[in-house]
This record gives sequence, structure tokens and C-alpha cells, in this order.
Amino acid sequence: MGQQLLGVAVVGCGVGVNHIAQGYRRHPDKFRVQALCDIDEARLAVVGNEFGVPRRTTVFDDVLRMDDVDIVDICTPVRLHFRQILAALLAGKEVVCEKPLVGSLAEIDRVIASEKAAAGRVMPIFQYRFGNGVQKAKRIIDLGIAGKPYLATAETAWKRTSKYYEAPWRGRRETERGGILLMHAIHSHDLMIWLMGPVASVFACTATRVNPIEVEDCAVASLVMRSGALASLAATLGSQREISRLRLCFEHVTFESKQAPYSPGDDPWEIIPASPEAELRIAEALADYRPVPPRYEGQLGAYHAALTSGGPLPVTLADASTSLELVTALYHSAATGAVVSLPIAAGHPSYNGWAS
Ligand SMILES: NC(=O)c1ccc[n+]([C@@H]2O[C@H](COP(=O)([O-])OP(=O)(O)OC[C@H]3O[C@@H](n4cnc5c(N)ncnc54)[C@H](O)[C@@H]3O)[C@@H](O)[C@H]2O)c1
Repeated sequence: MGQQLLGVAVVGCGVGVNHIAQGYRRHPDKFRVQALCDIDEARLAVVGNEFGVPRRTTVFDDVLRMDDVDIVDICTPVRLHFRQILAALLAGKEVVCEKPLVGSLAEIDRVIASEKAAAGRVMPIFQYRFGNGVQKAKRIIDLGIAGKPYLATAETAWKRTSKYYEAPWRGRRETERGGILLMHAIHSHDLMIWLMGPVASVFACTATRVNPIEVEDCAVASLVMRSGALASLAATLGSQREISRLRLCFEHVTFESKQAPYSPGDDPWEIIPASPEAELRIAEALADYRPVPPRYEGQLGAYHAALTSGGPLPVTLADASTSLELVTALYHSAATGAVVSLPIAAGHPSYNGWAS
């Protein structure tokens, strides 16, 4: 991509506001938000005025025709993502899209095929990866210093009340496609897999106990990783004090995240070496560590560098596919009571959509 200043259209003014305030606006030399799209005219006007966005539209296809829009950033409810991603790729745009990327493994495979044939690429959002605690852990693990993975625990203890479910698409199977496993714990689970490696099998139980909704709001799961390590996931939307916590035990080091619910990747993480030798190797590995800006600012800054250099995207469709494969396996296990082995290929009963 030749030019440095990239034009963006943000579609969906819910979390889209965070993309602007905590992302694009922190990089005024890299991005300009040229257009906003939302079917809610009142929301469109409020957000457009707040951020001084020059063009606003209630029609998604309008942004595809704007020549000064290089990037279409999709922040709409999940049921719309698949169609909007494909349309934006077809229009020759770069695409950013919120989690969960789409509603099935079949859909993500179609997005992967469309990306191969398109000029633009698709960057899924996993902004929690952009925190200095998790980034340091990733560096230590990737350098081989942590050694053999033993066991991980990932907790997502958040709180959602009836107010959250006032948005009519939430809590309904048809429009939200899933509950805590798909919408909330997906972040911690992404971090866990990113650090511990691929999953071999899962056994999960889900329940709806906190709010009167169609999808699950409590879940537990036991995982066997392909390395042989074990992992335990626990998630609820009924916790009076909200936390996210990851604890990862490796041969030479144990990592423990901070507990801030919506920034678990941020510093400080406890990094506990097993020996003075491991401590020295960790200190050497982190000696030239350069901090990343947090969350959306970090992911979108790295995105700009990838677009302008042609280098790999900081988060890819392969990452989103790995995440949705775990979601699919967890839901299939919870629905059938069976242990589910990964990978999940075409032909699997849940390949075209999970039963949440
Ligand atoms: N990464 C994160 O931490 C994070 C946080 C919150 C939400 N999300 C994700 O972002 C997405 C949106 O969630 P939200 O909480 O912002 O929901 P929301 O309901 O608050 O906002 C969605 C907006 O999209 C608009 N919209 C609906 N249909 C549209 C259409 N056809 N064209 C244009 N706009 C349309 C709605 O009017 C609404 O303003 C979901 O996929 C959700 O999972 C991610």
C-alpha cells in the first residue's frame, strides 16, 4: 500500500467507538476515520459529531463505494460479519472485523478462500494480545526458555445484568450465536492457546444460570493440549467482582496474569522462574524488550505497519479459525456430553454451526 495515511470507515457505533477513541485517534499520522455507518441514526449523529467524522451513512454498501476508504472496520453484531466481510473484500477493501469473526467454521473457511482471491486482507480483532505482560510471556515461551508446558487455568469471571441484554440481538441464539464461550471468554481462551499451543481434545459443560437468556452464561471445560499439557477453563457472567486470570505452569517458569477483567494482557504479569539459570535467561530475553501500546492502539498500530510494509498481519484469519474451532468443539462437547477431538474438519456435525 503506497500511502501512509489510510482512510477508515467504521461500521457499527457500539464498540466501534472504542476503535476510534482507543485506536485510530491515537494514530493521527496513520489513519483518518472518513466515514461512519450505523442503522441507528441517533447513534450515528452522536458518535459522528463527537469524533468529527466527515461522512455518515445508514447504508453499509455506501462505504464500499468511497474511494478514500481503504479499510472497512466491521463492528456490527456477529450475524452480519460474514456477509459484510465478503462484500468489503469484493469491493477491494482491507477489512478489520470484531470477534467473533463469523458464526461457523464453514463460514471462516469461505472467508479464507475469499481473502486468497482478493486484493485486501482481513484482520480479526484480538486486542487483549496487545499488553506487555502477555507479550513478554509470549517472547519467553517462543524463545524456548519456558520449556515443557504442564498446565494452564483460564478464568473469566465477569458480570452482566438485564441491562446488557436490552440490546435485542444479545442473549438470543439466532442473533448472538452463543453466550459466554463465544462472546466473552473467547479473549482469555485466545490468550491461553496463543501461549500454550494447539488443543487436542475438550470436554465441556455449560449452563444458563445468571440471566433469563437462550445462550449459556456459565461454562467449564477440561482440555488436553497437543503437547500433552492440560488446561482448565472456567467462565461465568455472575461474578460480583470481575476478574480475568490466566495461570500457566511450564517446566522452567510459571506465569500469572494480572486480574483486571478487561486488560488481562497488560503488565504486570508475575513471571516466576524455576531456577537462577531460568531467571538469567528470562532477564536476557527481556533486556531489549520494547513495550507495545495497549489493546486497540497496539493492534491497530501494528496493523498499519503490516499494511504499509506488506508484512504479515498482527492477527490473522488462522488465529480466528483456531479460536472458532475451540468454540465449536466446546459447544459440541457440551451438547453431546462427548470428549471432542480437534481438528474439526468439513463433515463434522458442527462444522456448519454449533449448537450453543
Ligand atoms: N473486542 C472486544 O472487546 C469487544 C467488546 C464489545 C463488543 N465486541 C464485538 O463487537 C461486535 C458489536 O458488539 P457491540 O457490543 O458494539 O454491539 P452494539 O449492539 O452495542 O453495537 C452494534 C451497532 O451496530 C449497528 N448495526 C446493526 N446492524 C447494522 C448494519 N446492518 N449496518 C450498520 N450498523 C449496524 C447497531 O445499530 C449498533 O449501533 C460484536 O461482534 C461483539 O462481539 C467486541
